[in-house]
Amino acid sequence: MPDVAFVNGTFVPLAEAKVSIEDRGFQFGDGVYEVIRTYNGRPFALDAHLARLERSATALDLRQPHSRAEWTHYVLEGIRRAAYPEAKVYLQVTRGVAPRDHAYPAEVTPTVVMTVRELHPLDRSVQAAGVEAMTTEDIRWGRCDIKSVNLLANVLARQQAKQAQVFEVILLKEGLVTEGAVSNVMVVRGGAVMTAPEGPRILSGVTRAVVLELARNEGLTVQERFISQAELYGADEVFLTGTTVEVLAVVRVDGNIIGDGRPGPITERLAADFMRRVG
Ligand code: PDD
Repeated sequence: MPDVAFVNGTFVPLAEAKVSIEDRGFQFGDGVYEVIRTYNGRPFALDAHLARLERSATALDLRQPHSRAEWTHYVLEGIRRAAYPEAKVYLQVTRGVAPRDHAYPAEVTPTVVMTVRELHPLDRSVQAAGVEAMTTEDIRWGRCDIKSVNLLANVLARQQAKQAQVFEVILLKEGLVTEGAVSNVMVVRGGAVMTAPEGPRILSGVTRAVVLELARNEGLTVQERFISQAELYGADEVFLTGTTVEVLAVVRVDGNIIGDGRPGPITERLAADFMRRVG
């Protein structure tokens, strides 16, 4: 089955999809994106992802190329055409094609692309054992709430993780945990679930919102506040949330064992609740 691509309103085989070398996404990283996955063949939380895409675009004064209804139609059509058991959908809107100049022209048509690829879920044994993480300095810009395609700091952080053979990088801004390079970070201490507050320092994760709601439904105390590196190391439990990681226990950070080195009870409860939620 060929991977499906979509370029400016037309579905094409991925290998044939092309955009201009003067696209501002290519030259400036001037664009926004979303990653959505399916469960049982249906896109999970599509509306929340499309709402965030709109927020990101608006924050960058980027014209919305499609209504939410149009996006929904294209996403469902892409998933249908790709016909994978489970799919990962990537949506990207860039400001469009213009002669290179940092400031953008008043009239420019956004470039819209989408890819639909097969989703390979995380190995269940990885999920059962938990993963290792390392911390690094958060060198990103001041608007991490915008899901921009400008991902250089995340790219470098992920490469550090790859070289260190750990699963994820936890980013620290002035000694406080912001989030992971591709996930949000949650810490359990004394039965309370803590995570960095929404705002310019983090991406407001779709999975984060679902998991915080599940935690509240479980009667757990939720604290949206920044956590220090010392609190992270001394946590009872640490876990990641995100479209690609779902709810994933972190059992070691910078070589420090978290809890007893296995996924903790609250993480396991929330992971089970999450699996029930996604069906
Ligand atoms: N990333 N924080 C960052 C920096 C992210 O890049 C992501 C997701 C998240 C989790 O958000 P959500 O729960 O909405 O997926 C948090 C996607 C998967 C990516 O860039 O590939």
